[in-house]
Amino acid sequence: MTQITKICCIGAGYVGGPTMAMIAKKCPHIKVTVVDLNEQRIAAWNDEDVNKIPVYEPGLSEVVAEARGRNLFFSTEVESAIADAQMVFISVNTPTKTYGAGKGQAADLKWIELCARQIARVAKDNKIIVEKSTLPVRTASAIRDILTHTGNGSQFQILSNPEFLAEGTAVEDLDAPDRVLIGGDSTPEGQIAVQALVDVYANWIPRERILTTNVWSSELSKLTANAFLAQRVSSINSLSELCEKTEADITEVAKAIGTDSRIGPKFLKASVGFGGSCFQKDILNLVYIARSYGLQEVADYWEQVIIMNDHQKKRFANQMIRDLYNTVNGKKISFLGWAFKKDTNDTRESAAIYVADHLLYEQAYISVYDPKVLEDQVYADLDYLGSRTQEENRNGVKVVSDPYEACKGAHAIAVLTEWDEFKNYDWQRIYDSMLKPAKIFDGRNLLDTNKLSDIGFIVQAIGKK
Ligand code: NAI
Repeated sequence: MTQITKICCIGAGYVGGPTMAMIAKKCPHIKVTVVDLNEQRIAAWNDEDVNKIPVYEPGLSEVVAEARGRNLFFSTEVESAIADAQMVFISVNTPTKTYGAGKGQAADLKWIELCARQIARVAKDNKIIVEKSTLPVRTASAIRDILTHTGNGSQFQILSNPEFLAEGTAVEDLDAPDRVLIGGDSTPEGQIAVQALVDVYANWIPRERILTTNVWSSELSKLTANAFLAQRVSSINSLSELCEKTEADITEVAKAIGTDSRIGPKFLKASVGFGGSCFQKDILNLVYIARSYGLQEVADYWEQVIIMNDHQKKRFANQMIRDLYNTVNGKKISFLGWAFKKDTNDTRESAAIYVADHLLYEQAYISVYDPKVLEDQVYADLDYLGSRTQEENRNGVKVVSDPYEACKGAHAIAVLTEWDEFKNYDWQRIYDSMLKPAKIFDGRNLLDTNKLSDIGFIVQAIGKK
């Protein structure tokens, strides 16, 4: 079996949905079925109005519109889709464990194991299983253990094919990735499976960008890539604090070092801190794995990236309180942005959540505007923290659909997400509607500080005096 014509993907989330939509678009000869236990999510992927699909990504609704119903299907019929497919991608969530051994660090592999057991139960013929989720190194051996004991003679090959897309640019990244990584066994059967997946991607990706490795290198490369990316953010953020003390300017420093070709200009933007479902959990996972092998120095080294990120979020909130005369009690603070970055509706681990939590603790009153995040999500994020009652969260935070309304009567504005539209607001109108002195805390270094200062705002940007 080398020519793949039927793919199933378990997990219709931020990775499973877009990656499978792209495979379906580029490979009309492959039937791609994306399954999920979450009925509401599948219904949204099937919504007649393609703009209502559950993941917001520029260009994604067009890709889905082209392939859906032709060779792309979204379904809750998990078992029949697995049984029917030659290749099964596992793209379920792998959050940090919240209980038991490894709590707060290790990846919770409960959903991965459930998938493996489900595949073992329903598979009646040979299949290639592809780890698309980000997994601790050596997870494939656990999946293999479960699958080799089905007792029905089916043969399974396990591949690792981590996803490197970035939310907000997922369609671009999937269309023209820097590389695709496929890890497989060195046995002849393993190599046949690797080739089958290479052939799928080769429908639109140049061969030289499809890297093949052993399974463990592939699994570890994904954790490593996220650790390196997050480390750059924490590195520049750590220096932003030093800039604020020394009158150096972090944007100038970033530009000066980024022109060195060994360093490069990307991922050097100082901010209120990184968020998203991946960086923190993957580094914590790396830290846990290193500790479990007794590598304390390695673990401590990477843990510092998280410690610095937590510090940056706290520091931003504390600075707001300090600049608002050491009290925000009863003051209206307007949040522009709630998503963890622009061009996505994903809010997982968003810095906004933690800054809000800190300010609510100081009894501020927060008004949130985000172009793509719905009210229910904002409350769900705050409720999940468990810092206060649901009622208290709803009393302390209001979510509005108009940015001017969000800022009206506010003591201060905090920019938490770098949405482009914020740059083009009528800032004079906003200034006129606010209490004076009107303060802006730009957590993304997004706005034109000079222009705002000319209007009369007092602006505090990250890493600038
Ligand atoms: P998600 O939480 O958006 O989606 C996962 C989906 O899997 C959920 O809809 C859930 O209902 C479903 N699911 C869980 N167990 C299931 C089961 N047994 N049967 C059927 N459906 C099941 O997660 P997301 O963001 O798509 O991430 C998936 C994996 O991809 C994670 O391991 C993540 O680390 C990794 N990843 C995420 C990236 C991102 O930007 N979000 C980028 C690269 C990798």
